Amino acid sequence: MALSYPSLPVHFSGSGPGPQAADGCSVELYRRSVYAGEIELLRPLLPAGTSVLELGCGTGRLTHRLLEWGCEVTGVDNSADMLAHLHPSVHCVQADIETLHLDQRFDVVLLPSGMINHADAAVRRAFVAAAARHVASDGRFLLKRQAPGWMLSSQVGDVLGRPDAPIEVLAATRSPEPEGTQVRMTLQYRIGPDTWTHVFSVITLDVAAIAELLRAEGFTPPEALDADALWLSTRPLSLQRFFPTHQG
Ligand SMILES: C[S@@+](CC[C@H](N)C(=O)[O-])C[C@H]1O[C@@H](n2cnc3c(N)ncnc32)[C@H](O)[C@@H]1O
Repeated sequence: MALSYPSLPVHFSGSGPGPQAADGCSVELYRRSVYAGEIELLRPLLPAGTSVLELGCGTGRLTHRLLEWGCEVTGVDNSADMLAHLHPSVHCVQADIETLHLDQRFDVVLLPSGMINHADAAVRRAFVAAAARHVASDGRFLLKRQAPGWMLSSQVGDVLGRPDAPIEVLAATRSPEPEGTQVRMTLQYRIGPDTWTHVFSVITLDVAAIAELLRAEGFTPPEALDADALWLSTRPLSLQRFFPTHQG
């Protein structure tokens, strides 16, 4: 008998001072959030001169660190309000990642911020396909998955984040899916006197589920870059591996 998985709604929204992006992220919240070292472990892979395509760059919290390292960065976001805060030396592209078609390939394509955990399987596949269309044949795709622990365990009233910028869980519902557990959450962020809410749906993904997504778009099995295998690195499979040289 086929199992049925009652999906939670995949609808994103946000509220609070300033504009919100289509995915419910608040521009002011991201503009005022400090860089917390999220991409420091990638530095050895991103020497000066590396061309980087950052998918979902927001206000440039991570992008500006890449610039400091001497990378040539193209930042993609579908929110003009987010892109308005990027440094002028970033090449800004306002577009949906899913339908992105740039006339350039990059040394590195970066999908940070747990965006791969999007609750909609078609969107997850489209994100990986966009990376495959834009990475150089000898380049890398670097992506970050959300840690499953907090997604599975946090309860209403829990406070996550830093003491100066607490994040409170206002609502959390969970539903099993074939690839992982779908989680719908409302979080409230506070910086000083201001609060923002974000309502979103994500899915927990283990490395095997991500490896399958990558394989389907022609990437190698991912290599973990940290002990928890949250940051993953993969490369395009060479054409030769798809079509081995004829030995006749
Ligand atoms: C969680 S924020 C992260 C921003 C930035 N990476 C950071 O860490 O500060 C996600 C960003 O991706 C953008 N975004 C989400 N889905 C997108 C899509 N399908 N196409 C383009 N941009 C998208 C949002 O507008 C938002 O700026």
